[in-house]
Formats: sequence, structure tokens, C-alpha cells
Amino acid sequence: MSIYGDYIKSVIRTVPDWPQPGVNFRDITPLLQNSAAFRKLIDSFVHRYQEMDLDAIAAIDARGFIVGAPLAYELGCSFVPVRKKGKLPFKTISETYTLEYGEAEVELHSDAFREGDRILVVDDLIATGGTMLAAAKLISRSGGLVVETSTIVDLPDLGGAQRIRDAGFGVFAVCS
Ligand code: PRP
Ligand code: ADE
Repeated sequence: MSIYGDYIKSVIRTVPDWPQPGVNFRDITPLLQNSAAFRKLIDSFVHRYQEMDLDAIAAIDARGFIVGAPLAYELGCSFVPVRKKGKLPFKTISETYTLEYGEAEVELHSDAFREGDRILVVDDLIATGGTMLAAAKLISRSGGLVVETSTIVDLPDLGGAQRIRDAGFGVFAVCS
């Protein structure tokens, strides 16, 4: 949890039963509408990672891009999109995974970074952890060093962060 964790949590809205019954959807759009809150959010990540000598931010399509791009800009490192299947035009490698509400596949360009580069994987939310874990595995398979996986929100009741840690990757969440 970051220093602004309670505040960030207070500006995220929960929408019950969306996109299907039983899912409590954590909607970050009120946080994005609030420029002071968005600044605090990005500052939380910058504060944690500014001394970690990162080479790239790998951000997950689509909500991960919202955090990943300003973070890469602030840290002065490169930005690597991890995209949903069929969106990247060059040679790709991929991983399939299951979501809280479906199944999907993420892809990465084979030339996205250099062997041994220090990579932070970012997304907006960890639920079952399937998406983040698939992205971290892709980075590892491509020869990158996953310094940590990082998210705005972790939903601990769904066990995703533990699953990612059990697979050998670190997890940071601004709030849970
Ligand atoms: C959401 C969210 C995470 C993922 C978390 O993405 O942004 O990427 O689900 O779920 P998990 O931990 O169970 O894998 P979604 O696939 O809905 O895509 P979006 O970012 O394009 O809205
Ligand atoms: N992605 C998967 N589960 C989610 C949830 N409960 N809220 C927002 N995004 C999600």
C-alpha cells in the first residue's frame, strides 16, 4: 500500500454486478477525472520506482496504458505495450489466460526490449491475477528481468497477488 493508498481508494467507484452478476467492478474513471488524484497516483508509482534503474515500463492493454505512459515519461524509460491478441503488427509472442469474466490472450513484440533489460509490468487492477501473470511470463520469456508487477488496485479476496508471488514475481499495489 502506498502513502496515498486510502485517498486513491476513496476516489475509485465500485459498480455492482457489472459486466455480469456477481462482479463488483472497480471503476477508475472518477480517479482519472480528478486531476489532483491522478497526479497523486502517478507520484505514488514514481516515488516507488525512481531509484530502481528501470529500462522499460511494460503496460497492459488497455487500462494499464493510462498509468504506464505517464510513468515511463516521468522515469525517463521506454514504454512497451502488452496488447490483446491481434493488435500488434510485427512479430509477436503470446500467452493465454483466464479472466474473472472470460478468457483472453496477450501479446508482446519480439523486439520490444533488449535481453536483460529491467522491466516493470503495470496494470490498473489485479483480480484473479491471470492478466498480470501472463504479461510477466511474456516479459520473462523474452529475456527481460521483471523487477516487479505493479497495480493501482489489488482485490486480495480473489487471490491474484498471491498467485503472482507464488510464481516468483513481486507485487506492488497502491491500494487494496
Ligand atoms: C481488466 C483489468 C486487468 C484485468 C484484471 O482488464 O484492466 O487487466 O482485467 O483481471 P485478472 O487479474 O483476473 O486477470 P480487461 O481485460 O477487462 O481489459 P481493459 O483494460 O481493456 O478494460
Ligand atoms: N477486471 C477484472 N475484474 C475486475 C473488477 N472487479 N473491476 C475492474 N476491473 C476488473
